[in-house]
Amino acid sequence: MIKVLFVCLGNICRSPMAEGLFRDLIEKRDLADRVHIDSAGTHGYHIGAPPDERARQTMARHGVDIGAFEGRKVDVVDLDQFDYVLAMDRSNLRDLERLGGGSRPHVRLFLEFARASAEREVPDPYYGGPDGFEHVYALLEDAAAGLLADIEQRLNQP
Ligand code: 4NP
Repeated sequence: MIKVLFVCLGNICRSPMAEGLFRDLIEKRDLADRVHIDSAGTHGYHIGAPPDERARQTMARHGVDIGAFEGRKVDVVDLDQFDYVLAMDRSNLRDLERLGGGSRPHVRLFLEFARASAEREVPDPYYGGPDGFEHVYALLEDAAAGLLADIEQRLNQP
């Protein structure tokens, strides 16, 4: 089982969108029994809360229901238990490095997997309008394709 954790600040906008989008992709590839996907926030503001309404609506427009997700805070054990710990921005990455006592190769920016976009951070859409959420979706979709290729390569290794 390959385990993927998406991490943002609040776990109600970017990382649950990434989780929903990537799970949908993994299910369509028939890999759901080989890849475990989760998301978490670096801060505990929204523990137990559902995703932001705008995040839910954006994902619903793209055919993915994330309404049942519940916010949780990242834990130091996640850094050992997940094969990929993917931060949405550099601030999240710094928080993860502080939590784990240093940088580790599997803890990295999700957009390092992006191909079409040169952006390396998913901007926080929380204080903006709906356009911000569509932009987040486009960045996540780009990086998800690159991550899928990386995981498929790993699964096909002897
Ligand atoms: P997220 O967005 O990190 O993408 O989930 C945010 C959600 C909540 C807050 C900030 C960012 N907040 O300050 O409550």
